[in-house]
Formats: sequence, C-alpha cells, structure tokens
Amino acid sequence: MDLAELNRVANFLVTPGKGVLAADESAGTVKKRFDVIGVECTEDNRRDYRELLFRSKDMANISGVILFDETIRQKAKDGTPLVKIIEAAGTLPGIKVDKGVKPLPFCPGEVITEGLDGLGERLAEYRSLGAKFAKWRAVIEIGAGIPSYACINANAHTLARYAALCQSEDIVPIVEPEVLMDGDHDIDRCAEVTEFALKALYEQLYYARVKLEGTVLKPNMVVPGKKSAKQASVAEVAERTVRVLKECVPAAVPGIAFLSGGQSDEEATAHLNAMNRIGGLPWKLTFSYGRALQAAPQKAWSGKAENIAAGQRAFTHRAKMNALASKGEWETGLEKKVA
Ligand code: 13P
Repeated sequence: MDLAELNRVANFLVTPGKGVLAADESAGTVKKRFDVIGVECTEDNRRDYRELLFRSKDMANISGVILFDETIRQKAKDGTPLVKIIEAAGTLPGIKVDKGVKPLPFCPGEVITEGLDGLGERLAEYRSLGAKFAKWRAVIEIGAGIPSYACINANAHTLARYAALCQSEDIVPIVEPEVLMDGDHDIDRCAEVTEFALKALYEQLYYARVKLEGTVLKPNMVVPGKKSAKQASVAEVAERTVRVLKECVPAAVPGIAFLSGGQSDEEATAHLNAMNRIGGLPWKLTFSYGRALQAAPQKAWSGKAENIAAGQRAFTHRAKMNALASKGEWETGLEKKVA
C-alpha cells in the first residue's frame, strides 16, 4: 500500500473549489432518468450522454468522476476511451464497485450491499483501466423499528472490508453509508441514525486496519424525511450535519463529499455552502452529487444532438455553483445571473 499516494488522491478529490461527479448509475437507473426525458436507454445513448458531460468545457470544478463498469470500458464516438477524456480534463476516474443491495435476512425492510466476492481481482483490473478511487454505497432506511443493529453493523463491516481491499490495491475508497431521506421522520431521528451509522463505520474501519488518511467519506446530510411535517431551514441542516460529523468523523479523514440523496439542486448547493460558512472544521467538505448535478443537463439535452451545448452549459453551471459552495462562496443571486 502506498499511503502517500492514497492520501494525495483523497486530498485532490476534496480540493476546495472542486468536487466529485457521481455518474455511476447502473443501466437500470439510467433508464429511470431517461424515461423522464423521453430518451431510449441504449448503450449508445448512455455513451453519448456521458460523453456530453465529460467533454464539457469547464471540468475544472470536477475533481473526480465515479463511473459504472460499462462506462470505464467505453469509447467515445470518435474512438477515444471515455477515461482518457476525463484524464485529459485533469479529473480523476473512479469506479463504483458494489453490486447493489439485497434484503437482509430476518430484518424486514432492511438491505445489505453485496459485491465483496472477487473484489480484490476486480479492483486490480479497474486500476489497470485507470481508476484511482472507488465507491461502495450502503443503504440505511429509517422506519418503524428500523434501522436495526444488525443492519447498521453488517453494512459497516462490509464497508470496512471493501475499504481495506481498495487500499491494498492502491485505490482510495469512498465509503458511503447513506441514510435515506424517505419517510416522515423528523431531523432529530435522522441525526440519531446518521450518528449510529457513522460511529459503527469508524469502529469497523479501525478493526479492518484501514488508514483514514487514504479515504473519503460520502455521507447523507442530516435532514428531515421527505414526508415530515416539519421541514428544516438551511441553517438548521448545516448546523445539525456538522454537529453529527464532529461527533463521529476523525480529523485524519481528509474530506467529506456529500451525496445529494433527492434534495433539489439548489437545496444541495445551499446546504453545502452553509456548512462551509460555519468554518473551523478538521476536514474539507465538498460534493459528490449524482442527481443534483445531472438533473439539469439531462433536461436540457433531452437526447437531442442539437442540445449538447445546452446540456453542457447546464452541467457546468451546477458544477460551478457547487464548487463555490465548497468554499462557502455561493449565494442565491448567482443562480439567477447565470441560469
Ligand atoms: P445522489 O447525489 O443522486 O444521491 O447520488 C450520489 C451517489 O453516488 C449515490 O450513491
């Protein structure tokens, strides 16, 4: 393991003014997104759409791109591997390596992420294809009587096994324990469950001998459930999220790159910005958004070749807004000026 290199990559991913583009949707998830804009989910269309993103003029705000297995092997229309386009933009290619979720036995309503079998060999191949970092997503749902300790513990253990395998292959693990926003729970409940998940995660990372300096955390923000009657202000989300992170995340972690999890584009930006304005934190805070970076370009593109430039402008704009938020320099007025 080359810890200096892992630490360099982890720090680069969370450089202020940059963040990660999560473009690692499985073909099934892309189909859901394409259905909304009336685009057929073929391999070529998936390629064209991702090529549009990676060839956007201003990739300076994107430190890394998380790819799906299909994409890390794909070539652009002109034959250039998509990975080469990403690298030429000064951005690091990464890879989603989990194989999705399955029901957790004896734990109704809860899931465990699979994909550890053969992972060492897969990581070695991904490294040869250019991957510098990886992602594994655990999913924790809040509901009546859940999450259980069994679910929290099994997912934390699995994330730690994944992270150790990554580091032994000189790949930076992004560890993602996502507490879902679905449900009608309040912000206190989200804070409590997020704390539980993060405490368990860092305990397991320690037992697995993972070096925190060569990792990035990808958590949810502390927010009320989507169906909660009591929604929270931007300031409250920022303050509650930072408080939980301070309770749980050791200062040796270089940075935290949030998922957007179903927040609106502007909410995701505003929350990140407000957290960075709090200041005095031991880790960098930035974005690793999927939906909050891609909803706008998908809509602008809508599968039409003549809309490629519009799609790229929409993507660049969201990347820029979030890059400013990673430095606490965003304000609502900037949205209106550029959009
Ligand atoms: P969202 O930002 O859409 O939550 O996606 C981020 C991600 O990579 C989830 O695993």
